[in-house]
Amino acid sequence: MWSRRRCSLAVCLLAALVVALSQGALASPVHRQHEQANASAAQRRNLLWLRDPLEVANDDHMLRNARVLVTGGVGFIGFHLAATLVQLGNDVVVLDNFNSYYDVRLKEARAHKLFGHGVRVVNGDICDFRLLEKLFEQHGFTHVAHLAAQAGVRYSVNHPHDYIRSNVDCFVNILEELRTKPEVKLVYASSSSVYGKDATIPFTEKECSDKPTNVYGATKRMNELLAHSYHHLYNISATGLRFFTVFGPWGRPDMAPFIFTERVMRGDTIDVYHTADGEEMRRDFTYVDDIVDGIVRSLHHGAGYDVFNLGRGHPTSVPQFIEMIESATGKPARRNDMEAHAAELPETYADVSHAADVLDYSPKMATDEGVNAFVGWYKWYSEQGMFRPFPRADYYFPGGPADEAFKQRQQQL
Ligand SMILES: NC(=O)c1ccc[n+]([C@@H]2O[C@H](COP(=O)([O-])OP(=O)(O)OC[C@H]3O[C@@H](n4cnc5c(N)ncnc54)[C@H](O)[C@@H]3O)[C@@H](O)[C@H]2O)c1
Repeated sequence: MWSRRRCSLAVCLLAALVVALSQGALASPVHRQHEQANASAAQRRNLLWLRDPLEVANDDHMLRNARVLVTGGVGFIGFHLAATLVQLGNDVVVLDNFNSYYDVRLKEARAHKLFGHGVRVVNGDICDFRLLEKLFEQHGFTHVAHLAAQAGVRYSVNHPHDYIRSNVDCFVNILEELRTKPEVKLVYASSSSVYGKDATIPFTEKECSDKPTNVYGATKRMNELLAHSYHHLYNISATGLRFFTVFGPWGRPDMAPFIFTERVMRGDTIDVYHTADGEEMRRDFTYVDDIVDGIVRSLHHGAGYDVFNLGRGHPTSVPQFIEMIESATGKPARRNDMEAHAAELPETYADVSHAADVLDYSPKMATDEGVNAFVGWYKWYSEQGMFRPFPRADYYFPGGPADEAFKQRQQQL
């Protein structure tokens, strides 16, 4: 994507200088030299977040000058979203409980980056209604991107209560906060997991979706139904986005792209699932920048009530995806073929025409290019060793001492 950009050399150099000066929370000078020496232009953009301001400025569907709450904002997608929103000129507050579902140091590393880019990071829970109220009072949010959730299909098999608490009970907190604020635009994360085994391929939003194959998918479908009730009763604005297997730099360690890459790099065997009939599994792998683009468009659009598929619309078989990892790492994969768990769908395939029609959504990243970017980031990340913890003083509490520290940090940027 970097290569598609038309910005002049001077603008690019200036952008690189600004970002290089403003980050620095994570990487030592030696690490930065290492990054710069080894990363391709596309990888460098992902490491340093050089998104193209000119490209963004030309698009009328992007959200600007808004006050946005991003829940789950030190998670994989929320982190990319918060960074993009702040670069578009929005005031962004992230709310995340930094839970230990996966390595908290990765979340802290993302928090460092966000803090360095002028995002307020609150360590708190969406289940804490008073905190939500306080944040709304303090910031008068115009938009909410609600991504906080217990994610993961397989984990939901043995931990159903975690999903009901964060994804259902506490989603109601968000809806309750918004019931008196119909002017606030809510966009929340749903999932391709709402589609059942019998859904027609490619999946369209018209599908009934009342037979999810796992508890995670059931909770996401409940989000859509609850959002509809609140829209009907209180006229809240709510847009549900069904994400399809999102991958990219800073990705989740519990997901296949990360696990495969880690194991291939170490020479360990990877479990490759197939259906009971021996068919290859297929996933509509979608690069994180395309997902973020779709979220920002949805925030700007602010539907009364709607649900959109956000995928790439071109599924890849899992063995093909592994070949891309082999090619990006230069290492062969050792495979262990296994039958997939009943919770898993054999194939996911998004029909994205609704998002294309209404949001002008058009995913751009080729899967192999995305795998190259991910592997470039993974190599860099795995060489970092220990990250220093995100200092408590850098957490933002509305009206507290860290508020003052945050303002000082803003002035330095
Ligand atoms: N990544 C994907 O492929 C994918 C696909 C479909 C849907 N989704 C959905 O998109 C959203 C973001 O996913 P992700 O991949 O970034 O996952 P993630 O786990 O990296 O991010 C979720 C974040 O939410 C936070 N969180 C969880 N419960 C919380 C609570 N009660 N209060 C505050 N914070 C809480 C976690 O600490 C985490 O940082 C989730 O809702 C997920 O279900 C993701």
